[in-house]
Amino acid sequence: MRVLGIETSCDETAIAIFDTERGLLANQIHSQTEVHARYGGVVPELAARDHVRKLPLLLRAALSEASMSRHEIDAVGYTQGPGLQGALMTGAAFAKGLARVLNRPALGVHHLEGHVLAPLLEQPQPDFPFLALLVSGGHTQLIGVERLGGYTLLGESIDDAVGEAFDKSAKLMGLGYPGGAALSKLAEQGRRDALRFTRPMVDRPGLDLSFSGLKTAVSIAVASGHDHADVAASFEQAVIDTLVIKIKRALAQTGYTQLVLAGGVAANQPLRARLKTLMAERGGEVFYPPPILCTDNAAMIALVAALRMSRGECDASAGFEVRPRWPLVALSAQI
Ligand code: KG4
Ligand code: ZN
Repeated sequence: MRVLGIETSCDETAIAIFDTERGLLANQIHSQTEVHARYGGVVPELAARDHVRKLPLLLRAALSEASMSRHEIDAVGYTQGPGLQGALMTGAAFAKGLARVLNRPALGVHHLEGHVLAPLLEQPQPDFPFLALLVSGGHTQLIGVERLGGYTLLGESIDDAVGEAFDKSAKLMGLGYPGGAALSKLAEQGRRDALRFTRPMVDRPGLDLSFSGLKTAVSIAVASGHDHADVAASFEQAVIDTLVIKIKRALAQTGYTQLVLAGGVAANQPLRARLKTLMAERGGEVFYPPPILCTDNAAMIALVAALRMSRGECDASAGFEVRPRWPLVALSAQI
């Protein structure tokens, strides 16, 4: 089965084609970073307009990359939520229109399920059950992944997401938006022990996290004239140490031996390296997709649609409804 996936939940327009026999055949992504950079954040209306402009171009590019005609598509998957309402609607409308023209089934997919299962696009794959650390611009969650559609929220950030803390700290240092990757690059030149930022919430039991205090500490350090590279390195280290402490707790609590790192911040090299060492020390394994499959993409959406459609799921109606707020654990209740 060849599934075309469409992702438009935020500021990436993406279309991919996943073949259940041959794997990923096309993975087209257009990032809107330039559209939003001058506003210092994503402008929802501009995001939606740009998705509408780019979707037809990306469809053509994806079909050409896969050397396929649109009639060879067996099904269409699209991000139904969570995300920006207007942005989600552009992808959903495009997906449903395409499915209708081709007379093929469509299926709305949960964006975070896509992130969490993205490692299944690669070899070697994790086996269920596993622990997932989802770290993106909008989410920071520790999730127990029991099976396809079986998710338990073990802990989450009570304020800023990790990616948000990276982006806000980067902005304070004049690194542009979204500045997570730029901050990490700058950190390579800094001393990780230059500033002793507190590791938030580690003295409290439980698996919840908090990153807004760290962002405030960064703003104070920047205002008092500390070297930006040192601030960046110390900030990154504080984030990594905090995540490691919570991951260890979550592994102890669940007894799981496999860890999946997902979401945009999973592209962070020092975090990847630290978690690889951690899991090796524990005799476990860590899985993370290549950076292009960590940030928003449609390959993960096509994959989830293929997995769910293989077990008989598809949208009941030709109309569509997007779900801007949609907790991942709500999927567990559907089974
Ligand atoms: O998953 P994603 O593409 O979009 C959301 O759904 O949020 O994640 C984007 C986030 C941004 O906050 C970005 O700054 C961050 O991931 N990010 C990074 C790195 N690459 C992307 N943060 C730290 N280090 C990186 N290398
Ligand atoms: Zn995302």
